[in-house]
Amino acid sequence: MKQRPRGAGAMNILILGSGGRAHALAWAVQQNPKCDRLWMAPGNPGMAALGECVAIDIEDAAAILKFVKQKPIDFVIIGPEAPLALGVSDALRAADILTFGPSKAAAALESSKNFTKQICDAAKAPTAAYRHFSDAQSAKTYIAAQGVPIVVKADGLAAGKGVIIAEDIQAAYSAVDNMFAGEFGSAGAEVVIEEFMEGEEASFFVLCDGKNLLPMGSAQDHKRVGDGDSGPNTGGMGAYSPAPVLTKEISEKALHEIIRPTMAEMRRRGIPYQGVLYAGLMIKEGQPRLVEYNVRFGDPECQVLMMRLGAQALDLMLATAQGQLNTAKINWADDHALTVVLASQGYPGAYQKGSEIKGLDDMAFDSKQMVFHAGTKQDGTTLRANGGRVLNVTARAETLSAAQSRAYKLLEKVDWPEGFHRTDIGWRAL
Ligand code: AMP
Ligand code: GLY
Repeated sequence: MKQRPRGAGAMNILILGSGGRAHALAWAVQQNPKCDRLWMAPGNPGMAALGECVAIDIEDAAAILKFVKQKPIDFVIIGPEAPLALGVSDALRAADILTFGPSKAAAALESSKNFTKQICDAAKAPTAAYRHFSDAQSAKTYIAAQGVPIVVKADGLAAGKGVIIAEDIQAAYSAVDNMFAGEFGSAGAEVVIEEFMEGEEASFFVLCDGKNLLPMGSAQDHKRVGDGDSGPNTGGMGAYSPAPVLTKEISEKALHEIIRPTMAEMRRRGIPYQGVLYAGLMIKEGQPRLVEYNVRFGDPECQVLMMRLGAQALDLMLATAQGQLNTAKINWADDHALTVVLASQGYPGAYQKGSEIKGLDDMAFDSKQMVFHAGTKQDGTTLRANGGRVLNVTARAETLSAAQSRAYKLLEKVDWPEGFHRTDIGWRAL
């Protein structure tokens, strides 16, 4: 790894995660002179170029704590939701380790849809009308009374798959039956039935230090697998930032009507939120409504945010963890970033692992173009696909259309016949 002299205030940093989001976080953090040594658990082959990857189970708080004390690590950044929902940040903070990411109690904003709905009710935040059920019959009676389209959601964490948008009554009933039959495991033991909201979706990222808020930026994901937003939902097939649909006026509205009241309600309940709050918004006729909260950066939205923020991402995450967002500032350049996800053929359904990926070694990466690894595996000198979403080809430019051209041009150099991608990332804004 790169050795730098340990300057005043330089820190040993640990990033938890292994996907494209974690790679982008590591790429940005490592550019900041405050980062002395960087560890990543478990990391991925792309991240290995930025520091040292260690095979620790990121859901095992005791193992992480042991590693953190041994090195010692000064700052831990938690990437995905699973360790947050398990309370890894609580364990670290209890040991006085500076940590970026909400407590287990606050992470319920993502791990329990019913909790979020209750908070929204108390905060009077605009969101879809809903009811919460723990048996199939009452859920179906409610669906019959509401009519379709209607949204059926497993209450707990289901890797983004526990949401069914039902166009007809039978589909809604089957979704209810499947959830109670255990399709999403314990996440579906309780079900939320929600009004279907029309509009355009955007992701709004806000940093919160328990007391102060700092709106970070916007992005738009592409959830459907196919061009023109066709086919089933995925974890996200591409993203760009900023999202013009989230105008200054609508962002202010979202802050004023949704995010500030939510954070105030969390504080009132004694569970202040510290970390990045990702508000999924549905925007119609100038009015934002909350679709969902996530308690971490979006993946692949993080990749475009990090490409635009660069080194200052570390300062912002530190200010968040230290409760100093009141003095923090973001210097946004007037630029645009776009990322295209390369996925294994078959994703989001069944797909093969292990095919060889070529072409990356000959590519030049800099602050304007980068390929983040999402699901890859190093096999000797060969890079292999090892997941559904495999690479994130990411570019930055002065306009969105130039960022799009740069990303797709870079993508042509990836030699991986077993992969596929959408050809229209950014279409809504272009
Ligand atoms: P969630 O896991 O809650 O983010 O839902 C996944 C996706 O389903 C969202 O990003 C939306 O595209 C869609 N969705 C969820 N809830 C609703 C709703 N009430 N109305 C319309 N679309 C929804
Ligand atoms: N890209 C959607 C998510 O991270 O939840």
